[in-house]
Amino acid sequence: MEFTPQKNDGLKVETSGRRSFLLALFGLSGAAVSALLAFPLVRFLTYPLRKSATDTTWSDVGPVQDFASLTAPIAKTITLERRDAWQTTSSQTAVYVLPSKAGQFRILSPICPHLGCSVRWVGDQDKFICPCHSGSFTADGERIAGPPPRSLDALESKVEDGVLKVRYQYFRQLVPNKEAMA
Ligand code: FES
Repeated sequence: MEFTPQKNDGLKVETSGRRSFLLALFGLSGAAVSALLAFPLVRFLTYPLRKSATDTTWSDVGPVQDFASLTAPIAKTITLERRDAWQTTSSQTAVYVLPSKAGQFRILSPICPHLGCSVRWVGDQDKFICPCHSGSFTADGERIAGPPPRSLDALESKVEDGVLKVRYQYFRQLVPNKEAMA
């Protein structure tokens, strides 16, 4: 069989290559536009998921007059509200309210920064003691001795309508500096 060269072969290949390139380009542009249009919708649908990670939750500690004349730390139970996606759950935990200094209320997390046990205020020794590995802290929460790598963590507080409130947070353990966990 005899081979008959086709005059326009090169042109056909070139035209088809250009067409594929243009189609790919249109496809990519379309995908990019769709992604941009979908972005607000995705943000809207995932709002509760993203919100739960950064939500600032304030809990009531009690009427401010209850803490006006403290002479030693006292433990108070607070209710924590947690928003996980579309669900709100509540749980209870403890905080320590310290005697105010220069008119400022001070609240400490009871969680030991070593491995997370709950410290106890031992009034007759005038210090906080961790029952797990005997870490100890002053009445202000400063580290005295033991394996904890830092002092007890102070929590943000404020007074609103005569009520002392606390912003409860968890902090990373085993690190020398206070680092809030998301
Ligand atoms: S957990 Fe508190 S000293 Fe270890």
